[in-house]
Amino acid sequence: RIAYVNGAYLRTADAGVSIEDRGFQFADGVYEVCEIRNSYIVDLTRHLDRLDRSLSEIRINHPMSRKALVGIIRHVIRRNHVKNGLFYMQVTRGAARRDHVFPAAHTPPTLVVTAKRTDASLIARKNADGIRAITMPENRWDRVDIKTVGLLSNVLARQDAKEAGAQEAIYVDTDGKVTEGAATNVWIVDKDGVLRTRPADHGILRGITRTTLQDVATKIGLKIEERAFTVEEMLAAREVFITAATSICFPVVTVDGHTIANGHPGSTAQKIREAFFDVAE
Ligand code: PDD
Repeated sequence: RIAYVNGAYLRTADAGVSIEDRGFQFADGVYEVCEIRNSYIVDLTRHLDRLDRSLSEIRINHPMSRKALVGIIRHVIRRNHVKNGLFYMQVTRGAARRDHVFPAAHTPPTLVVTAKRTDASLIARKNADGIRAITMPENRWDRVDIKTVGLLSNVLARQDAKEAGAQEAIYVDTDGKVTEGAATNVWIVDKDGVLRTRPADHGILRGITRTTLQDVATKIGLKIEERAFTVEEMLAAREVFITAATSICFPVVTVDGHTIANGHPGSTAQKIREAFFDVAE
């Protein structure tokens, strides 16, 4: 595999950043993950717009023009022969002697771009069988709307999910309302057939898949309400599903061991998934 690191294309095994990189020392950086489907990058513009926003929220200079960045992304995808998979890009505040305050203004940001193939059969199995989730108290900082690489809470949450035999952890705020998953946005289809998801305030990441799904659902005539829901409402829902670039619309069939509806993936999630790629392209 080939990675782009600060101006060079290197074999992944030979690629690296400085031990003084602020991404390594402080998680002082932001990232994006995008899906590649049939050699097409799904929702690229929206991902690049969100990267710009994340950079400006934490005051990191953009490493280069959008045109140059897209050129690198396409090159990395091609060099890795990825037709269906994901690409990852990370920008940090660069390398400097360890000090919490920002380094000198001329310090160049670090840019890393990688790409990998994904296992289509594994994704198909999750869509067909659904996944299991657990809930856990929200314990992250109050700017999770910024897509930073500071993901320790999310890492621990996913590991707890795995150790409980589940695939996702769903955060719940102090009002008993769902915020989002460790690496996904969470949706329900309520008893009236209305799609519900939490408003994109500072309490969640405004997922690109979430935004595109809103377009898709509207197009196929589904009613959507951006309104937070409680764990009880989730357990009583007709359907629960999660969205991310890595998992466009995975049905959730159990939460904390409670079966959702009849325990099988619902028809709404399936309908949305089928319609998704017409709109995303
Ligand atoms: N995560 N919420 C969180 C906390 C996330 O980390 C992600 C994505 C999402 C969904 O965003 P999008 O639809 O733009 O992928 C929501 C990526 C995939 C990751 O960390 O691997």
